[in-house]
Amino acid sequence: MLSKLISNINPSVTLGISAKAKSLKKQGKPIINLSVGEPDFNTPENIKTKAKDAIEANQTRYTQADGIPELKTAIAQRLKKDDKVDYQPNQIIVSPGAKASIFLALAAIVNPGDEIIIPTPFWVSYPEQVKLVGGNPIYLKTTPERHFLIDPPALQSLISPRTRAILLNNPCNPTGAAYDIEHLMEILNICTRHNLYIVADEIYSKIVFDGFKFVRCAGLSQQIYDRTITIDGVSKAYAMTGWRIGYAAGPQEIIAGMKSFQEHLTSNPCSIAQYAALEAFSGDQRNVAAFTEKFQERRDVLHGELLRIPGIRCTKPKGTFYIFPDISEYFDTSDGQRTIRNSIDLADYLLDTAQVATVPGDGFGAERFLRLSFAASLENLNAAVRQIGTALGALGKM
Ligand SMILES: Cc1ncc(COP(=O)(O)O)c(C=O)c1O
Repeated sequence: MLSKLISNINPSVTLGISAKAKSLKKQGKPIINLSVGEPDFNTPENIKTKAKDAIEANQTRYTQADGIPELKTAIAQRLKKDDKVDYQPNQIIVSPGAKASIFLALAAIVNPGDEIIIPTPFWVSYPEQVKLVGGNPIYLKTTPERHFLIDPPALQSLISPRTRAILLNNPCNPTGAAYDIEHLMEILNICTRHNLYIVADEIYSKIVFDGFKFVRCAGLSQQIYDRTITIDGVSKAYAMTGWRIGYAAGPQEIIAGMKSFQEHLTSNPCSIAQYAALEAFSGDQRNVAAFTEKFQERRDVLHGELLRIPGIRCTKPKGTFYIFPDISEYFDTSDGQRTIRNSIDLADYLLDTAQVATVPGDGFGAERFLRLSFAASLENLNAAVRQIGTALGALGKM
């Protein structure tokens, strides 16, 4: 019998679909996998070289629990240079992925029964992580009509004496929504007025389109800076998902608390991956821009093609490599054999019939949608939309 703690966790929908898609692919099915949450590019050569050098130099032992000092300095310099935000190295902790950084941040600020506001659609791990540290997720709905951005009065109405923090993902997985400075300021001022912490998950900060100006929460004002824990990492911007390096930057006391937890949990992030991340943050940045340019081109194609499918409505992502169409027109339909009642049925139908893996919106707290990743070649994206269009065309209202 598993513990209450573990029994209470929902499995990750994204990892589940990815596993099914991979297994079908292994059986020889020509699956186009648009369910993935990682860039399809290889880690740049300069970064891989530094990892090899680290192995040769025997940088293979335990490191400081919060990361090697050179890496923390490089992160501080990157934040200063790109975002004009000042952090000292003792305000930074490096973890095995941003996922771990978010968890440690929540562990450092949440007491049992505290309420954490999570805008929906949300990244799948937020509610589970909040529950794991004893908090209660409180959902704040955003809609495509408002570009999936928080409505300030709606935020205000959810705040109670138990509210401890907001988990703000900007740019947002799965919607691709991103906040301009005025909107961000308005919602964060509400948060600071109520003394909330802001866990600012900015893991897609570098992947923004059409010259959109990304701003970090922590850069907005001293009050906001004092209440913000900035989360970022190398996974998405540098195509380094497997290396498992993320970081948190914030008030020194919170970072020190997170370090104590990490000391007992993982000791430290992988030493070799830290040297690779050092090169990512301090070396040539041209790959980041090149990856983003490719993502933008793919977004344009995918968005345009999806809109040509009857019944599909879809906002244009400002960042990330995901698109989140409303597919609810296809609920309560059938192809004569299968009935589609919800996003899970539809994702399953598309995997079997169109041979395209997508993620049902259900896992992101948004039933009417599907998430498609455009971390795939243009050729695959075009083929995927064609196949989806044909499969949807076979569905008729019941
Ligand atoms: C919104 C969001 N936050 C955090 C993460 C975790 O990133 P990492 O690979 O650094 O753990 C992801 C990865 O999918 C993500 O989409």
